Amino acid sequence: YSLKDHNSFGIDVRAEKFISIQKIEDLRNLLRKSYASELFILGGGSNMLLTGDVNKMVLHIALKGKDIVSETDSEVVIEAAAGENWHEFVLWTLKQGFGGLENLSLIPGNVGTAPIQNIGAYGVELKDTFVSCKAMNVQTLEEKEFSLEDCDFSYRNSVFKNQLKGQYIITSVKFRLTKKDHHLNIDYGSIRSELTAKGITEPEIQDISNAVIAIRRSKLPDPKEIGNSGSFFKNPVISKDQFEGLKSKFPEIPSYEVSEDEIKVPAGWLIDTAGFKGYRNGDAGVHKNQALVLVNYGEATGSEILDLSKTIQKSIKDKFGIDLEAEVNII
Ligand code: EPU
Repeated sequence: YSLKDHNSFGIDVRAEKFISIQKIEDLRNLLRKSYASELFILGGGSNMLLTGDVNKMVLHIALKGKDIVSETDSEVVIEAAAGENWHEFVLWTLKQGFGGLENLSLIPGNVGTAPIQNIGAYGVELKDTFVSCKAMNVQTLEEKEFSLEDCDFSYRNSVFKNQLKGQYIITSVKFRLTKKDHHLNIDYGSIRSELTAKGITEPEIQDISNAVIAIRRSKLPDPKEIGNSGSFFKNPVISKDQFEGLKSKFPEIPSYEVSEDEIKVPAGWLIDTAGFKGYRNGDAGVHKNQALVLVNYGEATGSEILDLSKTIQKSIKDKFGIDLEAEVNII
């Protein structure tokens, strides 16, 4: 079974077997019959690089549905099933007039995989509206509800990438959204300028979503046209001392303060400055508008993309003394 249409990089590898899971009961039955180590859990396939055939049974989590769980005058709690497409879900919440997810418009992937890496964009992270998620333990087959605290979210990270890696399958996620007095986040530079360019001075949640969509479309390649997995690397966090050293050599280096002695620098800028933007080797390349995004122009293999990522890591280490860490899961 080819996985080409099930990973946003468009890598053509094969799986031994592929099963689409539509019901929780089917998931439980399958888990009962198989060892966790024989299974490969697939959500939206938008944050992984497949470097070889998957000699396992692929479980494609296709659980669907969304419900209002509770509401007050001002807020609503929505539960969405893991297999809902993220962006379609965001558009649905906006259509109902619910605020909170607008800055996360157009992120590829599914609802159920969003908590694993605490997806984030344009000043907002999943954790800001997250209430809890349900997940099935692959050994005991019990469903557990994880609170915000249980998930231990941080930048592109959660308990599901660490202590609980491979132990749970997320089946649904609850979000707390606003019905009025929305908390608008327009501070991320390009959102403000996008709104200003459109002459919008008092933006609604829908305007912010439209602005984010326009910015993303201008910078990030559409995986349907050019295979990619969004940002390939995390933005590295370095010490203030190291940053001061870099700043004296590269006065224009952008930065965000994370704590008193730590600074985050954009990996996109480092890769761009190292000269890789628009670089191409065969069908593996670095996107021409956003150097943080590695792309598959068609027939690249996962290993070719991985090799390119290693070349970039080495160059960034040599030039800036910084270790870049992959953000996508390499399989
Ligand atoms: N930059 C360059 N050259 C480039 C790319 C970026 O100089 O080729 C500079 C920009 O000029 C800007 C800075 O780097 O000063 C930051 O760039 P940008 O605003 O595009 O954001 P980013 O840090 O590269 C992060 C997320 C994105 C998210 C955007 C917007 C990570 C790893 N990436 O990118 O998330 O959409 O901010 O919030 O944190 C993803 O995770 O897949 C993803 C796309």
